[in-house]
Amino acid sequence: MRKLQRGDAFYSLPEVWDFCLEKIYDKPKYVRGFIVLMKRLGITKESKILDAGCGSGFLTLDLVERGYNVVGTDKSSEMVRQIRLNAKKRKLTIEAHHVMWADLAQHFGRNKFDLAYCRGNSLVYAASWEQNWIVPARSREEIQRAIQNFYALLAPGGYLYLDVTSRKEHPHEEDIGTVNTTHGPVQITWRIDHDKESKIRTWTLRLLFQRTASVKVYPSYSYLLSRDELTQFLRSAGFKKIEAGVRVAGENNYDVFIARK
Ligand SMILES: C[S@@+](CC[C@H](N)C(=O)[O-])C[C@H]1O[C@@H](n2cnc3c(N)ncnc32)[C@H](O)[C@@H]1O
Repeated sequence: MRKLQRGDAFYSLPEVWDFCLEKIYDKPKYVRGFIVLMKRLGITKESKILDAGCGSGFLTLDLVERGYNVVGTDKSSEMVRQIRLNAKKRKLTIEAHHVMWADLAQHFGRNKFDLAYCRGNSLVYAASWEQNWIVPARSREEIQRAIQNFYALLAPGGYLYLDVTSRKEHPHEEDIGTVNTTHGPVQITWRIDHDKESKIRTWTLRLLFQRTASVKVYPSYSYLLSRDELTQFLRSAGFKKIEAGVRVAGENNYDVFIARK
């Protein structure tokens, strides 16, 4: 293995996720697509909106910039730090809370929001994000607790927007592209593995720093959640109307669900 050298660069997972977002989304198109969807659901600038798992702020900062009333939440202190840094760079004021999904209803109280969204394939990481291990049964339990909390904090008639791993996804390797960083061009590739028996999905990001030929690898584990299981969790939490496979312009990565309280 190549030894670390002077000048080697390090990035946190939130920073690397930001690089990926640049490459896998047409961001303006997705933001427009999401606003069109909100209009269809009757969500306006007066509505109360919660981002459950705001990460580094994709979508939330864009909506806040357009005058929407969005509160960000995340269980990762690194991500909360990153959304605040990104907000500052864009001269935006953002309300971001460091709270996990299982504690959302206790934190905010019940029946508070008109829309909650959990996007970017976040839900399947409920008990494994920024960890180098996963216990599938724990993940399943935490996903159910998350959905129960989303239900509790929505006002009657409120909507949950959820996206999850595409059911068409197959194990594969992909070249995401090259991003220009303060350490020069970095080529990003990733590999997806599915262990169907254990219900574990592994997403391994690989960064090649072209100036130094240094390589950094970031493995992340998530739960292989099926569409049927998700629908069952939504129903048993109390959601009445569940729409699967919702089309949102600019969302070509994940499968979107809308559930109504
Ligand atoms: C793949 S990132 C997506 C971030 C953001 N929604 C986006 O679209 O860019 C997943 C996010 O979910 C958050 N997350 C995972 N499990 C969580 C939990 N149990 N409670 C709250 N946030 C969680 C992670 O900290 C991370 O910020």
